[in-house]
Amino acid sequence: MTVQTLHTPTRLPELDDTQRAQFDRSGFLVLPGFLPNDLVTRVKQEVDTWVDTGLRARSIAAVLDYATHGVPDVLELDLPGHGELLAHEPLLDVVRQLLGPGFGFHHMHSDRHAPDLPGKGWHHDYEQRFPSHRTHTMVHALHYLDGIDPDMAGLAVLPGSHREVAQKTARAHLGTDVLPGEVYLEELPAGSTVLLHSALFHARRAKPQFPGRPRYFVDASYCEAGVLWPPVKPYWREMLQRARRLGIAGPQWPDLFAEHHFSEYTRPE
Ligand SMILES: [Fe+2]
Repeated sequence: MTVQTLHTPTRLPELDDTQRAQFDRSGFLVLPGFLPNDLVTRVKQEVDTWVDTGLRARSIAAVLDYATHGVPDVLELDLPGHGELLAHEPLLDVVRQLLGPGFGFHHMHSDRHAPDLPGKGWHHDYEQRFPSHRTHTMVHALHYLDGIDPDMAGLAVLPGSHREVAQKTARAHLGTDVLPGEVYLEELPAGSTVLLHSALFHARRAKPQFPGRPRYFVDASYCEAGVLWPPVKPYWREMLQRARRLGIAGPQWPDLFAEHHFSEYTRPE
């Protein structure tokens, strides 16, 4: 299939009908080299800090055992480049065109994938607990700061699978197998973003035969207003409060960090 791309590093992007149709039909949009170089450089340095100083490990521990660890001192969005990436104006503008004018920030992850990191099997990340509730859209922006080379783990997506009503784990038994009809993204320039409908099945397919360089990966997700979304981090309220206090988003996005988008946190079973 033809993968529609968008290459607009310097101006606010306007999706054309073909791109919108592709997102509706296929569930993803590839934006090669979408992010400015200076932002990519700063966020990469922060990813190194996040991983190497144990901030990432503390963040994960707080999600797994909030009673013991409490709110982490530093969240992803506290890092200035990460905050800027989260609310990068051209990105929010594309998200607005996909979700409509009202949407909220859901969560962010930041990581540096070692070349020998195992793959991640087929899954989706749509957060409504009852998968029949597909009335509202959620998107994940997957940022490949250093791009993807053919000797790095690639991103496999299954076009159209976001239209299925399925649990996140419905294809877990397939591991990272090659599936009929999949699109495999294994070569993207630095600063590329892939926007996924969060219900789209996708997998990280490792290439353990290549000892190459690490893969810098940040993802941020956004959810359409009008329905309550389950949070994924027990300290979601504090996360939103910090984002508002830091003034991460401009006044044109008054609802981006609003609490009214969310239901109460419950631990996943
Ligand atoms: Fe995922």
